[in-house]
Amino acid sequence: MAEQRPIIIDTDPGQDDAVALLLALASEELDVLGITTVAGNVPLELTTRNALMITELAERSDVPVFAGCDRPTVRPLITAEYVHGKTGIDGSNLPDPTVGAASGHAVDFLVETVMSRDQTTICALGPLTNIATALDREPAIAQRIDQLILMGGGFFEGGNVTPAAEFNIYVDPQAAASIFASGIPLVMLPLDVTHKALTSDDRIDAFKELDSRTGRAIAGMLEFFERYDMERYGTGGAPLHDPCVIAYLLAPELFDGRTCYVEIETTSELTMGMTVVDWWGLTDREPNCLVIHQIDDNRFYSLLTDRIGRLP
Ligand code: BDR
Ligand code: CA
Repeated sequence: MAEQRPIIIDTDPGQDDAVALLLALASEELDVLGITTVAGNVPLELTTRNALMITELAERSDVPVFAGCDRPTVRPLITAEYVHGKTGIDGSNLPDPTVGAASGHAVDFLVETVMSRDQTTICALGPLTNIATALDREPAIAQRIDQLILMGGGFFEGGNVTPAAEFNIYVDPQAAASIFASGIPLVMLPLDVTHKALTSDDRIDAFKELDSRTGRAIAGMLEFFERYDMERYGTGGAPLHDPCVIAYLLAPELFDGRTCYVEIETTSELTMGMTVVDWWGLTDREPNCLVIHQIDDNRFYSLLTDRIGRLP
């Protein structure tokens, strides 16, 4: 087998986070060193519980789950039960986890793991609180992260919590600002991409047709999850945000983007958490992020269904 890429997934499950975790756990190219949870879509206790339920579903309880920060660095926590339901993974119909979280804090795990290896890739699927806290504690991690691939932001597409801001960045804009100023090689999958990766009846049926526990859990989660966006945006399905991060790692050729300078708004309440992307190179600021804006959505869903088909 070819060498596996070591990754840490920082997440706030969330149905779309759950699908992203399953995609990673199904993919032999990736060595998931650990999953770190953060407060976001639902409070930390639930995001941790959900991550444990998902690793158990995939029969991958060997992957440790570390609970992290229970609130953003500066602002009070806002959650998104109105999208994800009371549990965060409504629709999954999964049993309670039988295994608990690993001992130790997610931030300690991040710092120790990144510092003890040559290069580690981080996949960020929620607010950036854990990663920014780790960076604050040990700035040298910046040189040991080969890539930080994050779902967050929106530019031509605008926001999904306020007209200007996307949820993950809006929840902890100070954390995001420090990550974008860190010099870590960044790849950003914003709403501009994820709003092109919509669920549909056929795409959900493909998970059902796998006739597996995981396929059924995903179909149930997506049927619950899609109602919010379909109503809000009048679309035929919901954006499968977070799996885009893992798909980018597995098959970057399905995506297209541009390196740009990106900065996060942390002052104005009106535009708080906005990702200001210098797409047209209007400033002389050094690009700090590969901003993705195109996805081959058919090949993305084929990859996803194919990989999920490998799970029980
Ligand atoms: C992001 O926010 C959450 O609701 C999703 O899990 C995704 O990470 C989309 O704005
Ligand atoms: Ca998420």
